[in-house]
Amino acid sequence: MTASPEQRILLIICGGIAAYKTLELIRRLRERGFFVRAVMTEAAQQFLTKLSVESLTESRVFDDLFALTEDSSMGHIELSRDADLLVVVPATADILAKMAHGLAGDLASTLLLATDKKILVAPAMNLRMWLHPAIQRNAAILQKDGVVFVGPEEGDMACGEYGPGRMSEPLAILAAIEQVLASGTRIPLPAHLSHKQEEAGVLAGRRVLVTSGPTQEAIDPVRYIANRSSGKQGHAIAAAAAAVGADVVLVSGPVALADPLGGRTIHVKTAREMLRQVEAALPVDIFIGVAAVADWRAAETAPEKIKKDPKQPLCLTLVENPDILAAMGRRSKDRPALVVGFAAESEQLIENAQAKLMVKNCDMIVANDVSRASGILGGENNKVLILTKKGKESWPWMTKQEVARRLVARLGTMLAETGR
Ligand SMILES: Cc1cc2nc3c(=O)[nH]c(=O)nc-3n(C[C@H](O)[C@H](O)[C@H](O)COP(=O)(O)O)c2cc1C
Repeated sequence: MTASPEQRILLIICGGIAAYKTLELIRRLRERGFFVRAVMTEAAQQFLTKLSVESLTESRVFDDLFALTEDSSMGHIELSRDADLLVVVPATADILAKMAHGLAGDLASTLLLATDKKILVAPAMNLRMWLHPAIQRNAAILQKDGVVFVGPEEGDMACGEYGPGRMSEPLAILAAIEQVLASGTRIPLPAHLSHKQEEAGVLAGRRVLVTSGPTQEAIDPVRYIANRSSGKQGHAIAAAAAAVGADVVLVSGPVALADPLGGRTIHVKTAREMLRQVEAALPVDIFIGVAAVADWRAAETAPEKIKKDPKQPLCLTLVENPDILAAMGRRSKDRPALVVGFAAESEQLIENAQAKLMVKNCDMIVANDVSRASGILGGENNKVLILTKKGKESWPWMTKQEVARRLVARLGTMLAETGR
């Protein structure tokens, strides 16, 4: 995707160790055709020079609330008015607190208040700072105000610790920027996707749990069993459900996608972790199992990297993973009113999908042909067959977003028919 020429990003760079990633983000934005203007806090300039940011944006960097009178055409109101989207990277604990409480002591915080444009923040901080109740309170206030969060991710931190607080990578931030721009750019947050009027609010107040992406099952510290699932369809469904008012929890395996807007995303690696998180999210009204959960895992994970042995082939013993969809369908307590499974089949699509519907006690199976020739796995489009206990229906080729929008609308109707 290339930005339309009028798309203008106001980047607010704050003083965190992850500020260096901002340079890569600017480069990526410029490659996509965005016009980027930057504001740097005083602290940001301890980490990055104005010169580097000016060189990459090819535009003057603004940093002084009062100096703006020198250039009256670019006062703080004009700076934010001129932008389609305000992006705060890295979003420090400090700026999040200022935003949540309406402080305006410098240029960055002032123009974050003097705007009705959508704001996206990419937090980055030490894990204990991120998990501190004060920060979590501020993040919740901002989310309620319609500020969009990308990350933070869990991972190794600059301070040598491991946990949540790491800033999302520039490509993930770029994807989130594109998602936000595609969904409208003013606060308060409107429906993220272009839903028809009659679909808006169709799942208001309902809890929807979605799984997405592949799982990874370790063989040794460096190798794993996985599959080609990109997570695009599952993430699109989570975003579409949030856009029609659902309270969404997305449990995602490792994917190269930004967390969808709206809702909460929990990141997992293995099938067993996915099952634990799915069960922890109950009760829900609708469960949609889109993840391509690995059917097997290595019976034992080698503690060290397995070495080649020319004398002997490597034999791996595989054991079955838990079947998350069947576990949801067959629950006696807290069974969701609707349990929906995806059946990715490379042969005998209808027969296999029908068997799955019955054996796993699902209310709907969305079947698709994932043979190599279909291009569905990893692609942008999908062609699905919908099976319920009442019959089957084939949908034409459409984008994964459109499949998601239609599916969510259909589930809204089915849920209303259950009377629950
Ligand atoms: C080496 C160093 C690294 C820092 N990294 C972070 C960080 O990753 N996240 C954060 O919230 N604050 C971090 N800080 C603290 C901020 O720089 C400090 O709170 C500052 O006031 C933020 O100002 P700003 O939000 O106006 O940019 C760091 C400070 C230092 C000295």
